[in-house]
Amino acid sequence: MEKDEFNTLPIGIFDSGVGGLTVYRALHDRLPNEHFVYLGDTARVPYGTKSLATIERYALENSAFLASLGIKMLVVACNTASALALPAMRAHIGLDVVGVIGPGGRKAIEEAKCNDPRIGVIATEATVQSNAYAEAIHRSCASAVVLQSACPLFVPLAEEGWTDEPETFSIAKRYLAEMRKFRPDALVLGCTHYPILRNTIQQTVGKDVKLIDSGEATADEVATLLAEKGLANPNVVHGERKLCDDLDHFYVTDAAERFAHIAERFLGSKPSKLEAIEVYGSDRLAGNRKADLNKHNQ
Ligand code: DGL
Repeated sequence: MEKDEFNTLPIGIFDSGVGGLTVYRALHDRLPNEHFVYLGDTARVPYGTKSLATIERYALENSAFLASLGIKMLVVACNTASALALPAMRAHIGLDVVGVIGPGGRKAIEEAKCNDPRIGVIATEATVQSNAYAEAIHRSCASAVVLQSACPLFVPLAEEGWTDEPETFSIAKRYLAEMRKFRPDALVLGCTHYPILRNTIQQTVGKDVKLIDSGEATADEVATLLAEKGLANPNVVHGERKLCDDLDHFYVTDAAERFAHIAERFLGSKPSKLEAIEVYGSDRLAGNRKADLNKHNQ
C-alpha cells in the first residue's frame, strides 16, 4: 500500500463499551479530517473488575479485529485496557498504539503548575490496582504525591444518564471524601465514563481542583503523533463534520440498540453506521495485514 493511501485509512478506537465515546468525541473535535472506526466490546463490559489475563486477551482480540479492517493507528480509549494491556497490543499489531494513561498523567503534571504537585486519580478498580497512572505521573514528575481511588458506581450512573441526580451527588461525596481531604491540585478522570459526571465531580472536590480529561489529553497527543510521523489524512473534509456521521463506522460485540441509545445520550446523535460483530479469533485474521501495515510504521 502506498503511503498516501495508508494515510487515508481511519484511526481505530476501542473501548470496553460505550464510555470510549467520550474519547471518540475528543478525537473527532481535534482531528476533523480523520475518519474513525470504533469498537465497543459491549458483550464483555465491564473490564474494570476483571483480571490482567482476561483484559489482555480481550484487548488483543479487539485490536486485531480493528487492524484486520485496515487502520493506520490504534487509540485505546479504555483506561483499564490501556493500564494493563498496552505492551501486549504493541507487540502484536504492528501499528502505533496510543493509550490514555500516559497523556492523562502528563497533562495532570502540566496543569498542576507547581513543584511537588498533589495529583488525584479516580478510575476503575483494575486501573487503580495496576498503579499505571501513578507510574505515568511519576515519570513526568518524580516528586508528585499521588492518591488513587476507585469509583465503580460512576460507570452505571453515567450510562443511566444520572449526571446531576441527588443520588449521584451522595455517591460522589462518599467516594471522594478522602480525595477532598487530600486537596489535589489536579484530579485525573481516569475512566472513560467520568467526564460525563464532570459537574458532580467538580462540585464535590471543589472548584479549585483542575479536572483532567484523559481523552482530551490523548486527542492532543494523537494530533502531534500524526504530524510527527507524517500520517495525517491528506484529504481535507470541507464543511462541518458532525459526530457519528457516515465517515465514522461503529462496531459493537452485543446490544447495538442500547449502544445507539447511550451514544445519543453522550454525544447528541446516534451512529449512522453501526454493526454488531464477533471479535473472537480476530487475532488470526489480523496476521496477514500486519506485514503490509508495518512498512509504514517504522
Ligand atoms: N472503559 C472502562 C475504563 O475506562 C470503564 C468501563 C469498564 O469497566 O469496562 O476503564
